Amino acid sequence: MITLSEYIIKKQHEFPEATGELTSLLGSIQLAAKVVNREINKAGLVDIIGTTGVENVQGEVQQKMDLYANDVFKSALKARGEVCGVASEEEDEFVTFDDQEGMNNKYVVLMDPLDGSSNIDVNVSVGTIFSIYRRVSKIGEKVILDDFLQTGDKQVAAGYVIYGSSTMLVYTTGFGTHGFTCDPSLGVFYLSHENMQIPDDGAMYSINEGNYLKFPLGVKKYLKYCQEIDSATKRPYTSRYIGSLVSDVHRNLLKGGIYIYPSTASSPQGKLRILYECNPMAFLVEQAGGRATDGFRRIMEIDPTELHQRVPFFCGSPNMMDKVEEMMAEFSPEANYFQPV
Ligand code: AHG
Ligand code: MN
Ligand code: MN
Repeated sequence: MITLSEYIIKKQHEFPEATGELTSLLGSIQLAAKVVNREINKAGLVDIIGTTGVENVQGEVQQKMDLYANDVFKSALKARGEVCGVASEEEDEFVTFDDQEGMNNKYVVLMDPLDGSSNIDVNVSVGTIFSIYRRVSKIGEKVILDDFLQTGDKQVAAGYVIYGSSTMLVYTTGFGTHGFTCDPSLGVFYLSHENMQIPDDGAMYSINEGNYLKFPLGVKKYLKYCQEIDSATKRPYTSRYIGSLVSDVHRNLLKGGIYIYPSTASSPQGKLRILYECNPMAFLVEQAGGRATDGFRRIMEIDPTELHQRVPFFCGSPNMMDKVEEMMAEFSPEANYFQPV
């Protein structure tokens, strides 16, 4: 039985310049995950379900749990002292840890503290997503926006926690994607899924099909392909959409499948945020042998220009990704950007 903490220390040598800071940083994420997990488990008993009545910068209603998880992760990261700044889906601006100790740190963290939070009051799995970069600004000074606006391929580490029927933490530092399951009686994460490999092919697709009429033509064509009958290719595929990115991608990682949140007529940039959701998930899925694009371009090579930037997101088993991209390529970018109804 190897614990997450033991595993991270064992793997520290993979970073030639490792000083233990990243190890400690991942430790603080692990601690915050346990605290959030405990609160989510009893969410129905205490007054932390429901909305705050406030919208975040992206116009989405904030749930009480969104803010709770945001505070817990932020405090854990600040307390451990390895991070100089944090950007969160739930905060308008990035947060600077601008005491001398904070400014001397080299890592920034971007996070979606609670993903799928609209599911929380109906007891469906939710998650936390995190993404870690080395700052580009000078150590010893305040962090700047450029520290956060880096392409995904510069990520040092990324991961998610899934608060599901079991709670798991899955992370990568660029040497494979590894999963740990929490033993609730001990509050310890044990290595359960070393070197996760997404199947090359899958028979499940996840998309909010209620938006079908607003989808790009390439996506519509691919959905029809998924629904055609052909036993040789195991079609029709099964449709599975939880509405919680972490849960949908986690299932696809284990069983094979594709997740799509495309541009739509009402949201031409899609819904998901490149920095807090798409880049970290892309890193994890690529490290497990899958792919992630916006339908055309590799997600991790897209240059972000804004903190809360959205991007269309396609990710999953490589053969399924090939197929959908082949169909996206059949239409002009205009027809594919979105198809007005
Ligand atoms: P969040 O709760 O962090 O705002 O993210 C919700 C995201 C993602 O988890 C999910 O896949 C998607 O939004 C669902 O959106 P729709 O309800 O539009 O399908
Ligand atoms: Mn989210
Ligand atoms: Mn969220």
